[in-house]
Amino acid sequence: MTTAGRTDPDGPVLVTGAAGGQQGSTGRHVVRILLERGRSVRALVHHEDERAAALAKLGAEVVVGDLREIQDTRRAMRGVRSAYFTYPVTDGLLEATGAFAAAAREEGVQRVVETSQLAADPDAGTPRMRQHWVSEQVFDWAGVGAVHLRAAVFFENLDFLLRAGGEGSELRMPLGPGGTVLPLVAGEDVARVAAGLLGHPRAEPPGSVVLLVGEVLTVGQVVQTYSGFGPRHVRYVDVPPKTWRRQAEAIYRDEHTVDHLDHLWALFRAIDAHHELYHVTPTIETLGGRLPIRLADFVAGG
Ligand SMILES: NC(=O)c1ccc[n+]([C@@H]2O[C@H](COP(=O)([O-])OP(=O)(O)OC[C@H]3O[C@@H](n4cnc5c(N)ncnc54)[C@H](OP(=O)(O)O)[C@@H]3O)[C@@H](O)[C@H]2O)c1
Repeated sequence: MTTAGRTDPDGPVLVTGAAGGQQGSTGRHVVRILLERGRSVRALVHHEDERAAALAKLGAEVVVGDLREIQDTRRAMRGVRSAYFTYPVTDGLLEATGAFAAAAREEGVQRVVETSQLAADPDAGTPRMRQHWVSEQVFDWAGVGAVHLRAAVFFENLDFLLRAGGEGSELRMPLGPGGTVLPLVAGEDVARVAAGLLGHPRAEPPGSVVLLVGEVLTVGQVVQTYSGFGPRHVRYVDVPPKTWRRQAEAIYRDEHTVDHLDHLWALFRAIDAHHELYHVTPTIETLGGRLPIRLADFVAGG
């Protein structure tokens, strides 16, 4: 454990997923933004590595632990009044939620901001989205001031798939025609909203569910954007779902991820472009303090 010397009258903000990863690195952005605002941050990392060292260098107190292990979570929660919870798309979300909610309740935490998915619902079309809804319920029952950030698809997700296929020149996804619509958001915008909500532990949250959509684009517009700013022309290749699944198993090496994405792409293929969730939400500006990052900005920023 590394301890930074900051003191904060509201106690440290506990941030999970703090090292960042393959998805949105939301936790890493939350740590940076809160430190920039003068808050003290306890950063929970899964592994002690160079990412953890970088967090300590920024000024965070770094603790190592597994979110599924109640002993680690209880230890990390000591003296905390507000916390950010995120758990990657892999097995164990409900185990981690249960441990985190129990530890937060025991410690008297007043605000937990957690990242969920745009269409979290008991009847949602992917098993992971249904798990997110259950997770939201558990946090609500715990009475820890939970706010659920229901986020659209992260830009980082597209970026990862693009880098994985055709050396960055092909976006190979089973999305049907190029006119298929995707609701999108930058991982950094999700983090900015989380930091906005965590920065004021005594302020009233705007509601327990916050929808986050930063941009709505067709797949054709996505590849056009990458072609306009990136080093090479990018084309979209509509791959059959079975082929995609086979390729995805090799890329992600995680059955949970592949299963979630397989169902998600099938939903996007089927959903009408005028779906009620396909709108840029004002929440990124009102709670995050600035207009949403556009895909073009994200790609141009490298
Ligand atoms: N991807 C999308 O498009 C998308 C869209 C909407 C919502 N979401 C939601 O966003 C969340 C993930 O976003 P993210 O930005 O946090 O993902 P991320 O960038 O992949 O980061 C995940 C972090 O969690 C850590 N971690 C993994 N297993 C852990 C464990 N057992 N105990 C403690 N830490 C652990 C990882 O550490 P190591 O790398 O060291 O293991 C990593 O630092 C998920 O809930 C997902 O459903 C994703």
